[in-house]
Amino acid sequence: MFITFEGIEGSGKTTQARYMVKFLQSRGHDCVMTREPGGTRIGKKIRAILLDPESKDMDPLAELLLYTADRAQHIKELVNPFLSAGKTVLCDRFYDATVAYQGFARGLDIGLINRLHGLILEDLKPDITFLLDLPPKVGLLRAWQQIKNGTRTGIETRFEEEKLPFHEKVRSGYLEIARVEPDRFRVIDASGDKHHVRDEIIKILSVEINRKYEI
Ligand code: TMP
Repeated sequence: MFITFEGIEGSGKTTQARYMVKFLQSRGHDCVMTREPGGTRIGKKIRAILLDPESKDMDPLAELLLYTADRAQHIKELVNPFLSAGKTVLCDRFYDATVAYQGFARGLDIGLINRLHGLILEDLKPDITFLLDLPPKVGLLRAWQQIKNGTRTGIETRFEEEKLPFHEKVRSGYLEIARVEPDRFRVIDASGDKHHVRDEIIKILSVEINRKYEI
């Protein structure tokens, strides 16, 4: 099973993905948690370039190609082998992030993004995607608090430094992607308490697991 987590900055998707690893392991699933960008050794180098605040002048097309390069490596080296081995893979961001950030927010052609994905994905598609939705003002405040108190690194802030309208476009882009694929997406209100959000995701995931494995 392939599960992805998406959302704007400060939406809590990393925390929730970790909770779900614990939950799934308690139900006997063999889980691997990974992320994009930076799920592989090569990907970590690509991530450093992408998120460095000094990469401010990066061309949007170069940005898109770096995210897809990271993804190509990640799928070949990690996601596909683990899925083939029967593991449950939980991924903190996947291709929907490219459509939301580089497509809807940066304004690159979504047709081009889909063609690039056609080259690297083959038949790979998440079974379920949790979109943690909340207002960007709330998310950004959380993200900057985490950067200030050291729970999130301060050397990866290129996107946090983008202005509010950029993050509004990311959010509405994500909601649009979710609207088009209602079978795959579950939109979760992530503005509340993290334990409440966790319980809601567990409820949904339990139903999905029963559907996939036990019925
Ligand atoms: P993270 O902070 O969730 O690890 O994500 C890193 C940043 O990269 C985040 O600001 C969103 C951005 N991003 C894109 O712009 N496009 C992508 O395809 C991915 C995976 C992430």
